[in-house]
Amino acid sequence: MTAVRSTRNVVGLMTRYRNASELGAIKEAADILKNGGLVAFPTETVYGLGANALDGQALGKIFEAKGRPSDNPLIVHIADMSMLEDIAADISDSAQRLIQKFWPGPLTLIFSKAQGISDIVSGGLSTIAVRMPDNNVALELIRAANIPIAAPSANTSGKPSPTSAAHVEADLNGKIDMVLEGENSSVGLESTILDLSTPVPTLLRPGVITLEMLEEVLGTVAIGYDSLIKNDEAPKAPGMKYKHYAPNAKLTIIKAKRDVRAAQFIRKQLEVDNCKYAVMASAEHLSFYQDDKCYLLSSENLFSILRQLDYDGIEHAFVHAVEESGVGSAIMNRLKKAANNDIVDLDEVLFVCTGNTCRSPMAQAIWQRYNTGCNAISRGVAARQGDTISENALKTLREMNLELPDFISTPLSKKDIERASIVLCMSAAHKNVVMQIAETAYRGKIYTLAEYAENTAHEDIPDPYGGNLDVYKNCAASLDKWIAKIVEKRNATKI
Ligand code: TXA
Ligand code: MG
Repeated sequence: MTAVRSTRNVVGLMTRYRNASELGAIKEAADILKNGGLVAFPTETVYGLGANALDGQALGKIFEAKGRPSDNPLIVHIADMSMLEDIAADISDSAQRLIQKFWPGPLTLIFSKAQGISDIVSGGLSTIAVRMPDNNVALELIRAANIPIAAPSANTSGKPSPTSAAHVEADLNGKIDMVLEGENSSVGLESTILDLSTPVPTLLRPGVITLEMLEEVLGTVAIGYDSLIKNDEAPKAPGMKYKHYAPNAKLTIIKAKRDVRAAQFIRKQLEVDNCKYAVMASAEHLSFYQDDKCYLLSSENLFSILRQLDYDGIEHAFVHAVEESGVGSAIMNRLKKAANNDIVDLDEVLFVCTGNTCRSPMAQAIWQRYNTGCNAISRGVAARQGDTISENALKTLREMNLELPDFISTPLSKKDIERASIVLCMSAAHKNVVMQIAETAYRGKIYTLAEYAENTAHEDIPDPYGGNLDVYKNCAASLDKWIAKIVEKRNATKI
């Protein structure tokens, strides 16, 4: 018989660790829940941190242990349909169809709340999120306690969700009463969340039950995630506004139409620092990399890799973007949050001048003539937000049959530099400024136009500001000359 392990932290709370298969372990966990305590337990998605959903005081402890903001509501876990009827109102026909098809399983449904359900569990909302997990330990625990169990993911708020008991221990040891140890979570991503309290069912969090699978049952499903949430606006799933899944390591997502381009870019970055940089690559991309800097990525192990990066002292990790359909939507949703939206788009070039009113917007428009399949944007190192393209620049473009509809001048930001595949500056002086703004890792992609086109060329594009139309036309001609060369070079090297 295995000895029961328990550890005490400075706060003084003893966390007991029991394997779910040990005799009496599930009953012990159920008793703790019934008595208002906290138990972490396995589910098929991620480990949950459970408390009695009907006990306000117990629920309060969840928020405290996780450091979770109190307006972020919890998902209630149930083991049978009678529990659903106790906590949710308005269980529609379409809800019944979804339940038939996907429960038990990784789908959370949001209903209007039944009367008498605590505001603490729903973060003050009039709705309640419910799911029936597809995991025997979880189901046995809920049945043994015979109460609905509120359970967020059992991680410290802001950290990657835990997919093993060891992850829970790393975050919550000494802060909760018990960890019921089971298998590693097989799905590895949190449940899909679908709001059924809205006129059109709304997908609030993508997961392995995909949009396409829901549409097959429901017809139309609206998308309510990844939207930009302004500070004063309540997000549909309150959890969406908080920082999530962030490893200590910086994470950058590399987007490119062609995989080989993304791999070339990442390999170049890895050379910057062998020990502290790494790549997360799925099986199809693995052959691009050497083993020692590469973590094999799948939807099942995404969260455990994010934790592993920190254990291994990685400072900067790169990951290929995946296509945002099917389960890919869920993976990208988690990756974007973990990366704090740090995305490099290798199909985007960035032109930089001073005010973003003459040279760089003209360059942006001229680039589009070449149909490279690669988008161009422009910024100014001293641009004033709200200015627009100068009259002579616009006239010059029109004579070339080019347009820049709705153009607004925008000051250059660090994010712009990070995101672009290359940064093309009008002059050496601009390049200097951009180099100072950029972090070291991104300096290798900053050039003047002439330098990028010909390696050794030193030629600035003179500022036409204040000049007559001819001055602008000359400027456009010189931009066109360099851009033609750049396009040719990129085609030749296929980057
Ligand atoms: O797979 C899962 O769902 C895991 C396991 C443990 O079941 N749980 C989980 O819980 O991921 P948590 O708390 O980490 O994420 C719950 C999300 C949050 O973003 C929260 O804002 C949202 O669900 N949510 C909960 N109740 C809601 C409601 N009534 N309306 C809108 N969003 C809600
Ligand atoms: Mg969570």
